[in-house]
Amino acid sequence: MTPSKFTYWKKLNPEQIRIRVREALKDNVDFEDNELIGVPASHLDPKVFYSNAPILKDAPFLSSLVKNPNHIGCHTLGDSEPFFRGTQEIERELIEICAADILGARPGTSDGYVASGGTEANIQAIWIYRNFFIRELGAAHDEIVILTSSDAHYSMFKAADLLNLSIELVEVGETNREITSSTLESAIENIKKKGKKYVIVVANMMTTMFGSVDDPSTYASGLQAAGLPFKMHVDGAYGGFLYPFMCDENTLSFKNPHISSVTLDAHKLVQAPYGTGIFLARKGLMKYVLNDQAQYVKGLDATLSGSRSGANAVAVWMILSTYGPHGWYEKNQMLMLRTSWLCERLDDLEVPYYRNPRANIITLKTSDAVRSLVDRFGLVPDSHGDQASWFKIVVMDHVTLDKLATFLEELKRGLRV
Ligand SMILES: Cc1ncc(COP(=O)(O)O)c(C=O)c1O
Repeated sequence: MTPSKFTYWKKLNPEQIRIRVREALKDNVDFEDNELIGVPASHLDPKVFYSNAPILKDAPFLSSLVKNPNHIGCHTLGDSEPFFRGTQEIERELIEICAADILGARPGTSDGYVASGGTEANIQAIWIYRNFFIRELGAAHDEIVILTSSDAHYSMFKAADLLNLSIELVEVGETNREITSSTLESAIENIKKKGKKYVIVVANMMTTMFGSVDDPSTYASGLQAAGLPFKMHVDGAYGGFLYPFMCDENTLSFKNPHISSVTLDAHKLVQAPYGTGIFLARKGLMKYVLNDQAQYVKGLDATLSGSRSGANAVAVWMILSTYGPHGWYEKNQMLMLRTSWLCERLDDLEVPYYRNPRANIITLKTSDAVRSLVDRFGLVPDSHGDQASWFKIVVMDHVTLDKLATFLEELKRGLRV
């Protein structure tokens, strides 16, 4: 990723951020100071959340929370509720930062919104494609299948259940966690045998357990060769704010014509408050889930959420604006450095693990020494109970070299017994 590519994403100082959010909140409705009586919304309860507390003056996120804007609907589509137009504008800018600056879309060609999390954003994508296949290609409901790797997040199974779709998994290699043309071919054979004709692909931009990344061209060429129409969504809930910064050419971006939508999640690596999944899609797709029964909402609603807090969009925008693209790259490099540091030492100890060199996850093969450290260091298993084969370390902001060094010392002690 080269710095010159950033159109929307600017580094701002704290004063600039304060002013921008203050002006946005001024553009929103002020419930205390007007004659509006029809809106079923208000600021936070003033007996509990003091709206005049001095601390709020210098705390743009907290004051956004107290003012409580409702970002119901999708604000990149056209009309939206006028009451919250100031903070909706911040959300629109955030969507462009993510879609255009981070994921290579041409400016103004994407829609999106801040969802409750990665789960919702994945379901939103699958919902859109299910309706697309039915409406545009005359698909019967039971001819549509979700195709994803066996390392994919369980939200794909929630989507299959909720949307009444079946799901087919492509096996990954035990040690490299990659899908291959031949594992894809056998999955395609299975779906054909089951009478499926339309495919919703979910490719991973870093899986939950391994940080592994799928090659979208494997899916595209396999499905094209099989003559099956497909739509491809990228699950970047874990890796979306990291992987694009680690590659010269990110094939899981909007520059790839096969990819129509992406999930990001700011409440993971971005350390934003929970409730900050981000759904991004090429323009022209949200209409497949636009709900024209939502007549009381100006601009209608094309999101799974319904009402959602505008303060969440403000929080993510503030974090990205505080770092700017270079600061963000630097922060990610720090996580990479710590991860590589640990990997080098695990290599010296001949401890088996999986690591994608562009990810900050180290997934250790189970052993007595590793198991003995699980509770103390909070290592997360691939499966709770006795069946765990892998345990992961996720090198987040708080996972410093000091903490990793302590872990290593204990691991060495465990290996000696
Ligand atoms: C790859 C991936 N997708 C989706 C999700 C679901 O995200 P959320 O918990 O925000 O719904 C996660 C969560 O860990 C994830 O790692």
